[in-house]
Order: sequence, then structure tokens, then C-alpha cells
Amino acid sequence: MTVLLDIHNVSKAFDQLAALDNVSLQIHTNEFFAILGPSGSGKTTLLRALAGFESLDSGQIVLDGQDVADVPPNERPVNLMFQSYALFPHMTVFDNVAYGLRREKRPQGEIAERVTSLLATVGLGDMATRRTHQLSGGQKQRVALARAIVKRPKILLLDEPLSALDRKVREDMQLELKRLQHEVGITFVVVTHDQEEAMSMADRIAVMDQGRVEQVATPVELYKNPGNPFVANFIGTSTLLRGHLSSGRLHLTNGVKVPCSLPSEDGAEIWLMLRPEDISQTPAGAITGTVISTNFYGPNCLVVAECGLEIPVKYLVGNSEVPRVGDATKISWAGDTGVVVRAS
Ligand SMILES: Nc1ncnc2c1ncn2[C@@H]1O[C@H](COP(=O)(O)OP(=O)(O)OP(=O)(O)O)[C@@H](O)[C@H]1O
Ligand SMILES: [Mg+2]
Repeated sequence: MTVLLDIHNVSKAFDQLAALDNVSLQIHTNEFFAILGPSGSGKTTLLRALAGFESLDSGQIVLDGQDVADVPPNERPVNLMFQSYALFPHMTVFDNVAYGLRREKRPQGEIAERVTSLLATVGLGDMATRRTHQLSGGQKQRVALARAIVKRPKILLLDEPLSALDRKVREDMQLELKRLQHEVGITFVVVTHDQEEAMSMADRIAVMDQGRVEQVATPVELYKNPGNPFVANFIGTSTLLRGHLSSGRLHLTNGVKVPCSLPSEDGAEIWLMLRPEDISQTPAGAITGTVISTNFYGPNCLVVAECGLEIPVKYLVGNSEVPRVGDATKISWAGDTGVVVRAS
């Protein structure tokens, strides 16, 4: 794997506020890389810095072996598709996509060929002559994508590219983005605050919070082995129980003891992370509680129950066992289930 983009100790503050706090990341050639984090965590600022629209207070961005500090935005081999993709409303789809190539004064024939072939790739082959104000949200999104891709940047930076779309179109577009990335062979860096979207599309994900990178890993690693409580909480659904381990049990701060025989230093303070699928609802369960909400998904149902463990417990049941709010419940998990998470 070749490192295409090396972000090295990058910091940027706006009036004392650290929008980027010592960010280091390495992104590989042809990778589908996602940056995931809550609102205000610095995602857009990072993309803008990569595209050259934001100066750095310190640190370095090395693209394909070259420090880009002095390279202006229009000379960087990257293209940024903004959070609000601004199309030219009265131009046709074709002209919107051709715009950048015409500015580069490419020959007519080449422009026609590249734009036509790309419009077919994004599924807009028969819409070239429509004006963009006559398109649906999903179609506009595709025009914006085509416009960003047509100049064949080495890296395509996409800021919340699917946020304007409804759920169904969004899921289709997620698949399409993946397919497109394979087809055009461009490195994608996609910003999102939607973890399901990042998990379903990305090869690797950087989780950001308050300007810092909390963890960089594959979706599976993030889910199975979150590096700290923030990531455990942010990625997927979990019940995070805080306490200290002693002789095969976790002692919560309220004095309750629950099973945990995972290897860890006795007496150390930890968080035990249990995923919903780790916990069973069973008549033999030693932990009792009351159901406070249910979330039906179809194949299964997420149950939230108050069990006197300082925080509500979240677990999955099959669709034939869905309890009602207010029902008494009994749950259990094996001592070797879950993951020990420490504060980083
Ligand atoms: N030009 C600016 N001037 C002052 N503060 C700014 C500026 N741009 C961003 N910020 C601040 O920097 C922080 C990071 O902003 P950024 O836009 O990078 O967040 P984000 O992760 O993209 O959030 P969202 O998911 O809401 O788009 C925020 O606290 C924001 O208010
Ligand atoms: Mg943003």
C-alpha cells in the first residue's frame, strides 16, 4: 500500500478554538477513506485544509511526496465536493459537468467524450440536456459528483455527499459511490456524521471528536475493538458499564456487581462494552429490570431496559420475543463477553 496523502501533526484554531488539534493521518492510494465525527468535530475544516482553502497553524500535508503548503487550491490534484454542492441551476447537466474542462480549454471532442461517458457511469446518460433545476435531489447529487470527478483528481474529497438524500436513495447512492470509486480508480475521502454510512462504504475510518483523531481503523475493528469510550459510544449501539474489576466481576460505582472475566488488571478502572447482541433475554437471567423502550427493526428488536446498572441496558431480541414497555425482564451475559475499553 502506497501512502498518497500524509497528514502530519496538523493544527488549526479559530479564535482560540482548536478546530484541528494535532491531526495525523495516512491515506493510501485508491482507498475509500471516511472521516466520521459529530457536528463541529473539525471534519469540514480538515477537508478544506487538504483542498488548500484553509491555512494551517502548524503541521504538514504531503500529497504524493510533495509538501503542498505553497500549492494554491486550483493546482492541487484534489477536488472538493462541498457540503452544499452548488450547481449552476440554469445550465444543462452536460454544461455543469463540462465546466471545469472548458476552463482548462480542453479540445471540444475530448470534453464531449469525457462528459458523456461519465454521465453514463453515474446513471444520467439520458439527462445531459436537462437543466439542473429540473432534477431530483438524488440526480443533482450525481451531477455534482460527475462534476467533481471529471477532472480526474488524484483525490476526491466529499463533504457529506449524501446528506440531502432520503434514506432509500441514500442507500442506493452509497453502493453507487463504492462502484464508482472502483471504476474510476480515484482515492476517496468522504466526510460524514452518519456512522452507518461510513461503516457501509469505507475501507478505513478516522473517528474525530473536538478536532482530534480518536481512532483510525477498519469498520470491523472499530466495532469490535474501540480504542476508548468515545469511540465505543459513537460507533454502533452499546452499553458501557464503568467500574473496576475484581475476581471475575465488574464492580460498578453504585456497588452492583456484574459478570466480567475478561483479562485486565484487578482493581483498574475500565469500561465494559457490551454490544446488543452480547446480551440475552432469558428466564434464567440473573439481572432483572423493566423494559423502557423497544425499537423494532424487522428481523429483530432493540430493547432498552432499566436494570439498576447506572445506565439503561440495550439488547437484541428476535421478532417473536418483542416485550412491551413496562414489562419485567431478565437478562444475562457470559463473563467472557464484551470488550474492556480504557480511557485513552
Ligand atoms: N471560519 C471559521 N471561523 C470560526 N470558527 C470556525 C470556522 N470554521 C469552522 N469553525 C469552527 O471550527 C469547528 C469545526 O468546524 P467544522 O466545520 O470543521 O465541523 P464539522 O465536523 O464539519 O461539523 P458538521 O458535521 O456540522 O459539518 C466548529 O466549532 C466551528 O464552529
Ligand atoms: Mg462539516
